[in-house]
Amino acid sequence: MGENGYSFIVNGIERTTNEEKMLLRYLRDDLHLHSVKDGCSEGACGTCTIVVDGKAVKSCVLTTKRAAGKDILTVEGLSGFEKEVFVYAFGAKGAVQCGFCIPGMVMAGKALLDKNQNPTEEDIKIALRGNICRCTGYKKIMEGIQLAAAILRGDEEIDYELEKGDDYGVGKRAFRVDVREKVLGYGQYVDDMTVQGMVHASAVRTKYPRARILDIDISKAEALDGVIAVLTAEDVPNNKVGHIQQDWDVMIAKGDITRCIGDAICLVIAETEDILAKAKKLVNIDYEVLEPVRDIHEAAAKGAPQLHKHAPGNICQSRHVTRGDAKKALEKSKYTVTKNYTTPFTEHAFLEPECAIGMPYKDGVKVYSSDQGVYDSRKEIAIMFGWDEERVVVENALVGGGFGGKEDVSVQHIAALAAYKVQRPVKIKLSRQESLFFHPKRHAMEGTFTLGCDENGIFTGLDCEINFDGGAYASLCGPVLERACTHSVGPYCYQNTDIRGYGYYTNNPPAGAFRGFGVCQSEFALESNINLLAEKVGISPWEIRYRNAIEPGKVLPNGQIADCSTALKETLEAVKDVYEKNPGRAGIACALKNAGVGVGLPDKGRAKLIVNNGVVEIYAAASDIGQGCFTVFIQMVAETTGLPLKNIKSMGSNSEVAPDSGTTSGSRQTLLSGEAVRGAAFDLNVDLKEAGGDLNKLQGKEYFYEYFEPTDKLGADKPNPKSHIAYGFATHVVILDDDGRVKEVYAAHDSGKVVNPIAIQGQIEGGVLMSLGYALTESFPLKDCVPQVKFGTLGLMRANQIPDIHAIYVEKEELLGVAYGAKGIGEIATIPTAPAVQGAYYAMDHVLRTSLPMENTYYDTRGPKSCFFMQA
Ligand code: FES
Repeated sequence: MGENGYSFIVNGIERTTNEEKMLLRYLRDDLHLHSVKDGCSEGACGTCTIVVDGKAVKSCVLTTKRAAGKDILTVEGLSGFEKEVFVYAFGAKGAVQCGFCIPGMVMAGKALLDKNQNPTEEDIKIALRGNICRCTGYKKIMEGIQLAAAILRGDEEIDYELEKGDDYGVGKRAFRVDVREKVLGYGQYVDDMTVQGMVHASAVRTKYPRARILDIDISKAEALDGVIAVLTAEDVPNNKVGHIQQDWDVMIAKGDITRCIGDAICLVIAETEDILAKAKKLVNIDYEVLEPVRDIHEAAAKGAPQLHKHAPGNICQSRHVTRGDAKKALEKSKYTVTKNYTTPFTEHAFLEPECAIGMPYKDGVKVYSSDQGVYDSRKEIAIMFGWDEERVVVENALVGGGFGGKEDVSVQHIAALAAYKVQRPVKIKLSRQESLFFHPKRHAMEGTFTLGCDENGIFTGLDCEINFDGGAYASLCGPVLERACTHSVGPYCYQNTDIRGYGYYTNNPPAGAFRGFGVCQSEFALESNINLLAEKVGISPWEIRYRNAIEPGKVLPNGQIADCSTALKETLEAVKDVYEKNPGRAGIACALKNAGVGVGLPDKGRAKLIVNNGVVEIYAAASDIGQGCFTVFIQMVAETTGLPLKNIKSMGSNSEVAPDSGTTSGSRQTLLSGEAVRGAAFDLNVDLKEAGGDLNKLQGKEYFYEYFEPTDKLGADKPNPKSHIAYGFATHVVILDDDGRVKEVYAAHDSGKVVNPIAIQGQIEGGVLMSLGYALTESFPLKDCVPQVKFGTLGLMRANQIPDIHAIYVEKEELLGVAYGAKGIGEIATIPTAPAVQGAYYAMDHVLRTSLPMENTYYDTRGPKSCFFMQA
């Protein structure tokens, strides 16, 4: 330290501090430069990237001491013109989804462009390789940086009309409404928020996945100056929460047994984060360590410890989906293929770790939350308190990604509990390691699949058993297992199925919803079997799929008649040439995915429009987790009324003022909430016409619309039950290069009417890259139920690893009669890539890789590379 502390320049201003601390913390906490995001604090994610002496640097790996004498730049310090350039370039190219990675990307781009005004794609990939984006697949971010470079060189100009949005209807290249705040970093995620009088809380969590808690000594922690309270299970009115089944202990009580490494034992509340960290170390817990239940085999074994009282045999959920007579059909089949498949747990790796602020509010609590459904969080919190739901208000700040991993409460309920107990606002933020340890993952699967066909390759029947490791708590095990079962049939026409699904409790981290919702696992298995059947029949993998592909009017294996919008065959036709031009190195796979929850559940889209000072305000409690539903809603209003963007505003998701429009899950928001917004806008437009187009004449008027289309429950006794209001369809082709590297992916999608052509490409590209990671690089190793991972070792693909992804969408003339014919794209893009990768490797070396991530590929770092192209 110099005589006067550590001095450096930040955004052109000299700053001095006496404190040696992580530079990230200094920038965020002391200077309030919130564009610098805290995604992991361990140098792995890149969200805190800044420019130091002209170089892109992660601010979490620097300290104030090491930064002394340096010149530091954050997004806030860019020139006015540079800010406009990046806002426009990223918005025009669709580079922004959840936005949490974006300021870091901007600064990595800035450092590059300062040195290289005309970067190649390769230059950009290298510049971005330290920055993870989980949403976009990087392609659009790279295009954004290329456009920024062109504008800075003077080769292109900013088109301010695009952001203005005078022409913002459905199908238009709409500039997302959240681009500016996310690029410039002033948009607030929960961790960027501070509330007057706010204190901090954090849970002390078990050291062992399965251990009896013999004693909890909180006396020393309570005695520490600045500690406000230490709460245990005794302080929780109802100690069980859970998204569907309430089986998840808020805290493990003395005498009880822990179920996974993330279980909370007590909750410490303190004036500052420093005091909190010290206090947590003073809590003393005595354990009796018990042998954990490591996997589904141990869970099902005779004499296995029963992890939950209500679940004999550790079976959390089971499903039996059957139609026709699969046994007979398979016996009579000309060809059958039976194979076992295994898929791993997968981490969502959203870039924004979980954070919530709870505060006393009216006669209850209010919570600022990063989640996928404010009404879901409200319900779980109210259950914990034993209250009417109305006493709890939940409001979303910006949500930095979810992918299914933010459907369960993680911090929201304990923030509410702490705030109510101490009657002060309380912030709770998970460290990245806490987040990795216990938020629900994608279920690991072991499955056996038998598929049969006749001499022409026409499918005859499917028999399969799907076994899920559900981890310590149910989370969404029931519906995820159900979707895995119902979609294990694929998007084809055959009628004999016998599908058994079992979800087991183990002492692993819980598993729950993850983009694809169980279908990534089961369709990987089915599509792999299809390739083997094609071989037996002597036709190509493309041909066997085309012969069996569902068409409008034909009957899906669940009995549902495919509607007029069904365009699977069109997606197959879109990739036929490229598939056939790459023999021996191309793989192909199809998928279907429901849009909307369906199966007889009361799944409703609701929206309310209020005219206020010449602006149509949209109230629909639907979480925008990065997919862009707020922009979609505005497009729906613009299309229906002809109003420009300046007269329409999305008011976010807040349970106090916006009607419940359901969870952001099941690819449902564009279709269900979109239709609700469209319906309300239709009514508004009737009045608007009468008012001669003058919105001011409608001041204060409200328009509410609820969209609900009934569906039939699973196993409904009908010849043709309607399980879901719509399905999306897709075909992906993966092409390998000579080294066995994925060179290109062609992803053809039927998602009905495309609401925003740029946004749908971004969703497809991001989904494809997520699925490539699932296939090739991502793993979640566990040792005795303890995750052996850090954010940097998850195997997330980086910008310099991506193949060329071609997003293709097909639009039919015949569309669904709701939401302008849009069907939703969120999940399906993650499903067919992994089996298509499998097919490509099989085409190359004839080795069937039945487990993920696949072994013996270019990407496999685990062992000897034995496939032929690696030996060459
Ligand atoms: Fe990059 Fe979400 S936009 S992580």
